[in-house]
Amino acid sequence: MTKRALVTGITGQDGSYLADFLLEKGYEVHGTVRRSSVEKFERIQHIRDRVTLHQMDLLDQLSIITVLEDVEPWEVYNLAAQSFVPTSWNQPLLTGEFTALGVTRMLDGLRTVNPDIRFYQASSSEMFGKVRRTPQDEETPFYPRSPYGVAKVYGHFITVNYRESYDLFAVSGILFNHESPRRGLEFVTRKITDAVARIKLKQQKVLRLGNLDACRDWGFAGDYVDAMWRMLQLEEPEDFVIGTGVMHSVRDVCRVAFEHVGLDWEAYVMEDPAFLRPAEVEELCADASKAKRLLDWEPVVSFEELVRMMVDADLERHSG
Ligand code: NAP
Ligand code: GDD
Repeated sequence: MTKRALVTGITGQDGSYLADFLLEKGYEVHGTVRRSSVEKFERIQHIRDRVTLHQMDLLDQLSIITVLEDVEPWEVYNLAAQSFVPTSWNQPLLTGEFTALGVTRMLDGLRTVNPDIRFYQASSSEMFGKVRRTPQDEETPFYPRSPYGVAKVYGHFITVNYRESYDLFAVSGILFNHESPRRGLEFVTRKITDAVARIKLKQQKVLRLGNLDACRDWGFAGDYVDAMWRMLQLEEPEDFVIGTGVMHSVRDVCRVAFEHVGLDWEAYVMEDPAFLRPAEVEELCADASKAKRLLDWEPVVSFEELVRMMVDADLERHSG
């Protein structure tokens, strides 16, 4: 029998890779989109005729219930959120509504419509924030450093709580940063690879960045959606940390990206306080050994391969 999945946030980076992955697995894929005066479906343009889209907003309970009733999914992947950390200081309440309370709306909708639906919540390594220990695993305490991180902690624990209160198959994937050529342009890796391409093509002169010392555990989004799916195939619901276990600085991203086009990053990158955050997460690094053990999951694409893949895609886009 064909399995049916519902992906909230299908127009986002992860939603588009997950839709590709589930179609490849033979799923019937449904996705939710927000009403907008212009359609922003670039990331799913290549599969537009193979997925069914439904209008839904995380702020609107009726729209959630209606979609769950109409689609009758086996699996729900809740990827929709306000996902850009700096915006969460400018719009803390909206971030809380989308990224925190939106999860409760999804869980309540699912509980009302069909408690047998399997539910994946997109939790985040931002929850570790001012890290209590390194590397971080499923037992590491949270210390979020942004309204986004605080909202994700709520989303994480409400998922755990509904699992324990109502016996739902609800899991939380604590994913470390993952990037791709489909990454939003405001996130640091894509901001860098896009600028490198434009500088190489003489369309841009300098690149202004914030904290070059910040370190992240960066992986490839295409590898990470596989882990999401594996979590929903388990016998029992459990939460997992997903990451590569290797840390690099923003400076490293610059070096690898500029080197790939034969340029010296130090000649083009300028530090600009406008991109510093009110509270910074200095470093994040995953211990994903539980995922390796129970999901048989490991990342495939290395940091260097990822950065080069993104530079190549941006070069091709800007050359056209
Ligand atoms: P993204 O590219 O920003 O995509 C977010 C998606 O959520 C978009 O499709 C967006 O729709 C949708 N959305 C936003 N607000 C909504 C609302 N009120 N109602 C319905 N849909 C809404 O994010 P991503 O990188 O794919 O990340 C996917 C999820 O994983 C997010 O929850 C993010 O917080 C989490 N996460 C990401 C990472 C990472 O490194 N990428 C790591 C850990 C966790 P529009 O197209 O209409 O804006
Ligand atoms: N965006 C951005 N722009 N970040 C910069 C810049 C800049 O010009 N300069 C330095 N940085 C630093 C940030 O201060 C941060 O420490 C790091 O680069 C990464 O920033 P982002 O790429 O914006 O990602 P993030 O780590 O804040 O959040 C992403 O990963 C989370 C998982 O840990 C997002 O995808 C979140 O949605 C996700 O949960």
